[in-house]
Amino acid sequence: MESREDEDNWLRCASLIMKEIMNNPDFSLGVFADNLYMKNLVILTGAGMSAESGLKTFREMGGLWEEYDISEVATPEAWKRNPELVLRFYNERRKALLGALPNAGHYGLVELEKYFHVRIITQNVDDLHERAGSTNILHLHGELKKSRSTIDPRLVYDIDGWELNWGDLCEKGSQLRPHIVWFGEAVPNIEIAIQDAEQADIFVIIGTSMQVYPAAGLIDYVPRNVPVYLIDPNETAVGSERHVEIIRMKAGEGVAQFIRMARG
Ligand code: OAD
Repeated sequence: MESREDEDNWLRCASLIMKEIMNNPDFSLGVFADNLYMKNLVILTGAGMSAESGLKTFREMGGLWEEYDISEVATPEAWKRNPELVLRFYNERRKALLGALPNAGHYGLVELEKYFHVRIITQNVDDLHERAGSTNILHLHGELKKSRSTIDPRLVYDIDGWELNWGDLCEKGSQLRPHIVWFGEAVPNIEIAIQDAEQADIFVIIGTSMQVYPAAGLIDYVPRNVPVYLIDPNETAVGSERHVEIIRMKAGEGVAQFIRMARG
């Protein structure tokens, strides 16, 4: 005999299945059942995720912000003052990215899609999550391999090769800029990221110093009962009172460790 609760659950399930069958011609009961019971794993990544691919982080010793002044290369004022310097800075980043490959950490996050609904929220402007094969990625700070019109922000283009130059124009005739969120600019995808954080069943932070807001504030939207993990080889000040399980390892081995823990 079934309890009232079981009966309600069966009815809910049957109604979801009917909806899926009507809306999805490729419906598969097996895939549907797997998806129904998978937890939402939301992962926030930062520059440390790509460090083992040879890309520099920002705030560590020898990091990019030691070599460059943020106000000269990563702000709207810098773009007004000296656009060629800004273009050169991002051209160098793009050149480095074209020579880089995803690392074990990126591939580990792809493997996690077997066990979870994985959502990656990345502060990184590289495309290494995409190249590794992750399927559900949200870029918070833009994308290095894209350019954008300076008069119509809806016009976004793929950059062929590593160079974006002064004089490269959009179809409306205005200069193209890097498709990057600079300091002092709004973060257009933050509302979507907040919703993701609110729906997390598990939240994992990898390779970010948690210094840059609003990205660093996403942890405060994760429900209180949800476990939070942090993978980073160095000490990181997470600006939140909540308990965080620390995995003090580089991204590659830390993700492998997380997979072992998740599989039990
Ligand atoms: P940071 O450079 O501030 O932090 C990098 C973090 O990665 C540090 O906590 C390191 O300890 C850690 N780390 C280093 N090597 C690692 C490894 N192999 N595996 C895992 N972690 C490692 O970079 P972000 O926090 O990503 O924004 O910086 C946030 C934003 O500030 C960036 O998106 C960028 C930057 O200015 C913009 O340019 C808009």
